[in-house]
Amino acid sequence: MDFQSRAKVTALGAYIPEKKLTNHNLEKMVDTSDEWIIQRTGIKERRISDDTEFTSDLAYKAIEDLVERFSVTIDDIDLIIVATITPDYRTPSVSAVIQGRMNLPETVGVLDLNAACAGFVYALQVANGMITTGQSQKVLVVSVEELSKITDYTDRDTCVLFGDGAGAALVEYNQKTTGFLGTYYGSDGKSGNKLYCTGLSDQFGPEKVDRKNYLFQDGRAVYNFAIKTIPRGIKALLEKSDMTIDHIDWFVPHSANLRMIHSICDKIGISREKALTSLEYFGNTSSATIPLALWLALKDDRLKRGDKLLLYGFGGGLTHAGVIIEW
Ligand SMILES: CC(C)(COP(=O)(O)OP(=O)(O)OC[C@H]1O[C@@H](n2cnc3c(N)ncnc32)[C@H](O)[C@@H]1OP(=O)(O)O)[C@@H](O)C(=O)NCCC(=O)NCCS
Repeated sequence: MDFQSRAKVTALGAYIPEKKLTNHNLEKMVDTSDEWIIQRTGIKERRISDDTEFTSDLAYKAIEDLVERFSVTIDDIDLIIVATITPDYRTPSVSAVIQGRMNLPETVGVLDLNAACAGFVYALQVANGMITTGQSQKVLVVSVEELSKITDYTDRDTCVLFGDGAGAALVEYNQKTTGFLGTYYGSDGKSGNKLYCTGLSDQFGPEKVDRKNYLFQDGRAVYNFAIKTIPRGIKALLEKSDMTIDHIDWFVPHSANLRMIHSICDKIGISREKALTSLEYFGNTSSATIPLALWLALKDDRLKRGDKLLLYGFGGGLTHAGVIIEW
């Protein structure tokens, strides 16, 4: 890396809503089948928030889980970064809502970040940069999505893919340890129309402007972007970090589609068993898939302190970003 990181991820938590939406439930809603969904994506079920539960509620519960699981105090954090594309409000930000709800002092900085499914990795990079340059000491990073609230449940192209969930990570200053071993990022803004949520502008699809706040995607185009661009990005990340894939204990890609993940594993030369995923039970939760995969691996003791993890997010934008961290 170009600089010596002084930041380390010290704790992790997550929350997923109670309500399950299985493939069999979806069979009754649109023309699809459990077999098609599993064969094409690997997803078996996803979690859906109820009408009174919003992104900041999921975020808050993920933070509570982090505090409980790692017995850490967070009343001395100085910055909250929330990665999300489904904020409760356009303003205030989810991070501001959380700061208020947690009764944190007014010296705490708050920042929401929109990098879609690359959000967790971008947020970790910002936290690392803020800590390493001495601007922050203790940063709370939360990746949280309520994609069910921007999913059209009459559209089988998208509704079988997405789910809701939240992951939280604590990133702290550490004089002795270099927790971040490498960082890399990129984008392809010209392909923004391949995966987007309808909003104020109609430039991506005038015919869809009457259906505001719904996700649209050209699944095949996004698939091809992922299996071409991500292996290239991972190669560049490893080179920049003076590492090879053999140094990596766990690969944690954005958990959107198991076929896509297997293709990427094969291209970068890592065993498919070393990929940590969350899509099977939570679907594609955008920025939350990576912390949810880490959380599952922590819960069943696969993840050990000292393990080297390569996280790589990619999605709407189109964006992509990777980090290598020591757990
Ligand atoms: C969405 C995705 C699963 C579709 O798989 P695919 O193999 O590309 O399938 P296609 O879109 O070519 O569709 C194949 C057929 O299945 C049909 N189909 C589409 N969705 C379906 C569904 N939910 N159930 C059943 N059939 C479906 C199509 O209509 C098509 O039928 P046809 O052959 O008669 O025309 C896949 O493209 C994908 O995962 N893309 C990446 C998506 C992603 O990860 N996005 C988020 C990134 S952050």
